[in-house]
Amino acid sequence: MTSILTITNLQKTYAGGFQALKGINLDIEQGEIIALLGPNGAGKTTLISTVCGITTASAGQVRVAGFDIVTDFRAARALIGLVPQEIHLEPFETVQNTVRFSRGLFGKKSDPAKIQDILQQLSLWDKRNSQIRELSGGMKRRVLIAKALAHEPRVLFLDEPTAGVDVELRKDMWDIVAQLKRGGVTIVLTTHYIEEAEAIADRVGVIAKGELLLIENKASLMKRMGKKELSVQIADPIAALPDSLSGYDLELSSDGRALIYRYDTRAKRTGITALLADVAAAGLALADVETRQSSLEDIFVDLVQSEGGTS
Ligand SMILES: Nc1ncnc2c1ncn2[C@@H]1O[C@H](COP(=O)(O)OP(=O)(O)OP(=O)(O)O)[C@@H](O)[C@H]1O
Ligand SMILES: [Mg+2]
Repeated sequence: MTSILTITNLQKTYAGGFQALKGINLDIEQGEIIALLGPNGAGKTTLISTVCGITTASAGQVRVAGFDIVTDFRAARALIGLVPQEIHLEPFETVQNTVRFSRGLFGKKSDPAKIQDILQQLSLWDKRNSQIRELSGGMKRRVLIAKALAHEPRVLFLDEPTAGVDVELRKDMWDIVAQLKRGGVTIVLTTHYIEEAEAIADRVGVIAKGELLLIENKASLMKRMGKKELSVQIADPIAALPDSLSGYDLELSSDGRALIYRYDTRAKRTGITALLADVAAAGLALADVETRQSSLEDIFVDLVQSEGGTS
């Protein structure tokens, strides 16, 4: 696969001296959907704004399909579409003109059929002659997407596309993203909804305090999420695991009072029944059992909190 976007040691220090990006490295392949998670103020919008050339980087490099966003700005920018976090639209302009104008800004030849396609894809065709001020909030979000697609970008950045939208529009947005992916568009989106990342991303990245803490294939994250931990507490502490239990993936707690067993909730057999029988057969008296599931949310919260004291 070929990289469409390469971000190398990207740093951003704002005029007041605040370091919002502390050396981000990220390689994105064509056709991928990347979801970036992170708390408020983590640097997600700064990252997107810098890549899109709205904010200038303090250090580092960004290439879009090989074009440097500084030295080849025009070529790089033409390949990028941006749906900003804030809605800024001209209230008295019509939907159709708003989208058409956006295409023109990139020096692309007028193409009414393409604009019609985009408006239909976003269920805005019926509203094409409405003024922006006559639209609902959700429709305005769709117009922002239509605008970002008007010049047929190859990489689309969506900065919290579903913040404050209803469940139906959120699902529509997911469908739109899937459809764009099928058309070969690469998508980078930010979200505060973990289930959104689960639903549509190929890879999930976590940003906190200007650093990319994790970027991982969703499938492997889901695998981690699917893990459950069973803690078998025993009445009398032991110094080592009995040999008869060596066939299990077990860990003895440091106080010798609990056997920690990790299993895959998706597996046909969890092995719990056999384990408990073998624990009893080993002569260990059960005091209690407890289970705990790690979720993407846990992973996210742990990551973000463990960064808490570092800066
Ligand atoms: N123009 C600016 N000047 C100075 N500091 C800024 C500017 N824009 C953003 N920041 C600071 O940079 C940090 C990152 O902000 P950013 O908007 O990138 O966060 P975010 O991850 O998008 O957060 P949210 O989830 O709230 O949208 C914040 O501390 C913010 O106050
Ligand atoms: Mg933001």
